[in-house]
Amino acid sequence: MPVKIVRDDITKMEVDAIVNAANNALTGGGGVDGAIHRAAGPELLAECRTLGGCETGSAKRTGAYRLPCKYVIHTVGPVWRGGYYGERELLESCYRTSLELALEAECESIAFPLISSGVYGYPKAQALQVAMETVSRFLLEHDIMVYIVIFDRSSYQISEKLFADITAYIDQRYVDEHTDGSVEQARRHRIARESMESGPLSAEYVPFAAAAAPPPLSVAHTLEETLRHLDAGFSQTLLRLIDQSGMSDAQCYKKANIDRKLFSKIRSNPNYRPSKPTVLAFAVALELSLEETEALLRRAGFALSHASKFDIIVEYFIMQSCYDVFTINEALFAFDQPLLGG
Ligand code: APR
Repeated sequence: MPVKIVRDDITKMEVDAIVNAANNALTGGGGVDGAIHRAAGPELLAECRTLGGCETGSAKRTGAYRLPCKYVIHTVGPVWRGGYYGERELLESCYRTSLELALEAECESIAFPLISSGVYGYPKAQALQVAMETVSRFLLEHDIMVYIVIFDRSSYQISEKLFADITAYIDQRYVDEHTDGSVEQARRHRIARESMESGPLSAEYVPFAAAAAPPPLSVAHTLEETLRHLDAGFSQTLLRLIDQSGMSDAQCYKKANIDRKLFSKIRSNPNYRPSKPTVLAFAVALELSLEETEALLRRAGFALSHASKFDIIVEYFIMQSCYDVFTINEALFAFDQPLLGG
């Protein structure tokens, strides 16, 4: 199952378990700990007092009382001391042990705050990276829906350099709706020309066209004949690409951050119409080039546009050959854009 970054108050999350960024004594505190105890009511503190504390990097589970979830998993993140005292390993352990406790209680969904990134001073960009990497690694082997909950804008940061690079990339390419820039105009002409030359499902992309390439439209005499010669649709194309990649279906949909159920729908329905973020998630998982990505998008009736920040950001990562959906999603989230997969 996928991991999603959401902007919310964790005490409002309707999931099976929420995670608390607690202290060793488990006696409540400020930040997210205070918010969770306030929302759950005094019974939560009473149960916590019976647990005998919790070691840094470990986790303990309690009931959730007045919260809308079933369990609270209390974990104790490391205090940041420059990164020289095993902080990263301890933080990874917080995520892992919390996930294990959730699975043990048969939870199907769990929400984490950015542990250690407040009072405990873990640099936020790094805290987010540890969260995303540890969770996505865990999800390769296990099935649980994970939410990383970001409370406020200041608690969320990708690295300054990445943010600046993407901003510059967007600035160079973004065409707002009032500006008909010459680059965009040329690009649209190119797309229009291509679709006139090769029909809606271009055969220019070699792997896609490898199965019987359709004859030029001029030789198709009837509509029926034309339809018969259309290339494979998105679903069939995707399955063929997965086979060619050497990945298993599960490896591919997990890398794409796509839910297993959604993948089953795509697989069983040759006419499935995916959303654009779904197509792009698969393009990234399959490590397609930009040209190949555009070809796959066309199979689903989409195109990349420089009038969309979402498209430009995804394009940025593909151009850098960065095919990590989770890193791309961190950046999309930072720019308030929809996320890939899900
Ligand atoms: N929902 C989601 N996230 C929240 C919420 C909320 N309601 N409130 C705060 N946060 C975010 C903060 O913005 C921060 O990014 O949780 C993250 C973790 O911050 P802290 O709560 O300060 O946790 P941490 O850095 O792990 O420090 C733990 O703080 O309150 C004490 O008892 C706690 O001593 C422990 C220490």
